[in-house]
Amino acid sequence: MRAFRLDGATAPLKPIEETEPQAGPGEVLVDLKAASLNYRDTIVREGRYGGDQRNDLIPLSDGAGVIAAVGDGVPGERVGERVVIGFMPNWTEGPFTGAKQAGALGGGHVDGVLAERIVVPASGVAKLPDDWSFIDGAAYPCAGVTAWNCLFGGNGIHPGDTVLVEGTGGVSTFALQFAHAAGARVIATSSSNDKLAEARRLGADALINYRETPDWGARAAEIAGGEGVNLVVEVGGSGTLNQALQAVRPGGEVALVGVLTGFGGEVNTGAILMKAVEVRGVYVGSVSHLSTALRSGVRPVIDEVFAFDRADAAFERLRSGAHRGKVVVDIAA
Ligand SMILES: NC(=O)c1ccc[n+]([C@@H]2O[C@H](COP(=O)([O-])OP(=O)(O)OC[C@H]3O[C@@H](n4cnc5c(N)ncnc54)[C@H](OP(=O)(O)O)[C@@H]3O)[C@@H](O)[C@H]2O)c1
Repeated sequence: MRAFRLDGATAPLKPIEETEPQAGPGEVLVDLKAASLNYRDTIVREGRYGGDQRNDLIPLSDGAGVIAAVGDGVPGERVGERVVIGFMPNWTEGPFTGAKQAGALGGGHVDGVLAERIVVPASGVAKLPDDWSFIDGAAYPCAGVTAWNCLFGGNGIHPGDTVLVEGTGGVSTFALQFAHAAGARVIATSSSNDKLAEARRLGADALINYRETPDWGARAAEIAGGEGVNLVVEVGGSGTLNQALQAVRPGGEVALVGVLTGFGGEVNTGAILMKAVEVRGVYVGSVSHLSTALRSGVRPVIDEVFAFDRADAAFERLRSGAHRGKVVVDIAA
């Protein structure tokens, strides 16, 4: 089969021939049709993801395709099933553990989905809705599930709550769409007024350009009626967390997701305790979260689709920061 492998260098990625994978007991072989990129893939490629990281992986975590073969113990009728693969295929449900995290595709020591085929546990896939494309499905495993977990995996949001989403990338766009569909009021931020106009079209009720309004946390709290927002989807990390803590209301929640501005940094611990804010780390979610999120009916916003041979250009598109929503590779093309 054809696949891409990182080579520890910045040279363009090229497809190579790989041995055909075979499904073992309890596993399925998936013919991959589409894969999507996440910010994580850019830092894995650059060797900046941290931890014990192989530099010759098949990259990307998010894939959708068709079950082409099954291993012992898996019913034969599953061949032909259209599926989306879990970001951590061994996290079926239940609490998060280190072992589940270690199974995350396209990072650490685990090959990912930028290939024509992959073998995963039979329980590690979710059904792709019948009328959805593989491109729609491939957009979900990391960004969609993370957004879903932020909004519904903790205290949960309710109609009339106010949610703040930062920027217009993959996670934040899904979060905007899910929150709007759940009847919440959404405040969206972006560095670009054009992207804010698109966020409005997707259902954002209030918009802040974080470049023009550096004190956007206080502005969001004001828009939310003074006390602050109920939940912040915090994708920025150290450079944005203190603004997020200004935006959130007493007793509210900050779902801590991202590292766009770096991993470390100073945190206003006083704001966390004085406002009794719940700061909850989110690491994607389970296959069960994926199944539920796929049934939400929320179609992903697709920025651009690249043919398999042009996977390198897909990385460039994500790196440019010009994208809105998800950048996808059409493996079947
Ligand atoms: N913990 C988890 O499970 C998990 C899962 C998925 C992603 N993540 C992390 O979440 C972050 C976002 O991932 P993604 O895949 O959605 O990224 P992405 O699609 O590349 O989106 C990045 C967007 O974030 C916005 N942004 C950049 N710097 C910002 C800043 N200083 N303040 C506010 N917004 C900023 C920009 O939006 P504008 O162009 O509109 O300004 C940019 O387009 C990354 O750090 C990623 O590693 C974590």
